[in-house]
Amino acid sequence: MKLSTFAAAAVVGTAIGAPLGGNCPRGPPAPPAPPAGGPPAPVGSSSSAKTDALAVKGALNLAAYALSHGLPNTVCTKENASVRREWSTFSPQEKKDYISAVQCLTKKPSKTPSSLAPGAKTRYDDFVATHINQTLTIHGTGNFLSWHRYFTWAYEQALKNECGYKGSQPYYSWPKWAADPTKSPVFDGSDLSMSGDGAPQPGRNNTCIPSNDLCQISLTPGNGGGCVTSGPFKDSFQVNLGPVAPVLTDFTPNPDFTGLGYNPRCLRRDISKAASSKWSTDEQVSSLITDFKDFASFSTRMQGDFPNGFLGVHTAGHFTAGGDPGGDLFASPGDPYFYFHHAMIDRVWWIWQNQDIANRQYAIGATITVNNQPPSRNATLDDIIDLGYVGTKPVTIRDASNTLAGPFCYVYV
Ligand SMILES: *[C@@H]1O[C@H](CO)[C@@H](O)[C@H](O)[C@H]1NC(C)=O
Ligand SMILES: *[C@@H]1O[C@H](CO)[C@@H](O)[C@H](O)[C@H]1NC(C)=O
Ligand SMILES: *[C@@H]1O[C@H](CO)[C@@H](O)[C@H](O)[C@H]1NC(C)=O
Ligand SMILES: *[C@@H]1O[C@H](CO)[C@@H](O)[C@H](O)[C@H]1NC(C)=O
Repeated sequence: MKLSTFAAAAVVGTAIGAPLGGNCPRGPPAPPAPPAGGPPAPVGSSSSAKTDALAVKGALNLAAYALSHGLPNTVCTKENASVRREWSTFSPQEKKDYISAVQCLTKKPSKTPSSLAPGAKTRYDDFVATHINQTLTIHGTGNFLSWHRYFTWAYEQALKNECGYKGSQPYYSWPKWAADPTKSPVFDGSDLSMSGDGAPQPGRNNTCIPSNDLCQISLTPGNGGGCVTSGPFKDSFQVNLGPVAPVLTDFTPNPDFTGLGYNPRCLRRDISKAASSKWSTDEQVSSLITDFKDFASFSTRMQGDFPNGFLGVHTAGHFTAGGDPGGDLFASPGDPYFYFHHAMIDRVWWIWQNQDIANRQYAIGATITVNNQPPSRNATLDDIIDLGYVGTKPVTIRDASNTLAGPFCYVYV
């Protein structure tokens, strides 16, 4: 079977052991999408007003909490906490500096032994290899949010410490550009973007989620599908690892079934209004933050409920770029947009935590297997997050639960 989507999480549990990413024939044409579960979303609007208002309310709560309880960590002060901002608020120079640092990471040698991941050629690839290697223990699990928080932070630190970047990791606000992501400065294709859409590949089938064999949610293809045609990641950027669970049909298979073999190719995208305009709107994001009050339901809702036709902002945000490796649950960090998306995932968790700090700062839930398949023990705050050859020291979920404590010292606006 071929897992054709990102969110293969729903079927990954049952697919372990089956060859992933094999080029099997496609099933029958996709049935029409079932009616969407969840709150009705105004399709086509671009506003982040409600989400941003919750962020402000959360920041005020955080300030009040710090006044009454003190800051959790004496080395992280109000003055020197770094501030993560939306890419559209970056100055041209700040954008240049960030893009150069990412390009720098793709020119430094890998630290992953080639015996373990022959496809990990660059320092950038170390992050992709680690994500591929751990995919089945970091999605649909209790460590999903904390693992990706630490991973995104480790990438930001590599940009700073190994490539001289002075700023903070930017995020991409899904709702702000929900109607048309190509209007955002992340995807507008300019020299100061993260490159735009892929070359048009007409005549493609819908993308089925969680897989072509199990089409619970169907997304119409966008206007891309091929190699990105503009911007800084057009020619000089090379994807080396994966795919493992490709969404495009004409993919180049990895020589190793693990996806860790060497598979040099271009960055492909299929920017999807179908995903963004319906599934990552201001309504969707603000409802997620306000209506899901315990950790497990919040984290699970964020990752989608495909049998009930609900995509969730996590999968929607990945499919906003889609393509290869962006649409691949395993290899998606091979598209540098990954870190913009996961900074937004992290921001939404931060906003959620700040709505009720006493109860949510160190909340935990869910188990240690994908959607609890096979059934496993509950995740705990003492569980270890180890990023392997990314090279940062292992931390606990507890350490990764507070952006002003543990290894961290940052906030969002
Ligand atoms: C922040 O300031 C504190 C107190 O001056 C200092 O100990 C700490 O190293 C600083 N942290 C950063 C990340 O600059
Ligand atoms: C993959 O994970 C295993 C088990 O944790 C570890 O021993 C191995 O070094 C990892 N491989 C890579 C490429 O990170
Ligand atoms: C679309 O799906 C049909 C039916 O499964 C298949 O025959 C066709 O090859 C697919 N087209 C592409 C471009 O994948
Ligand atoms: C795991 O968590 C669930 C939900 O919070 C709880 O009902 C259950 O008792 C926990 N299991 C164990 C073994 O602690």
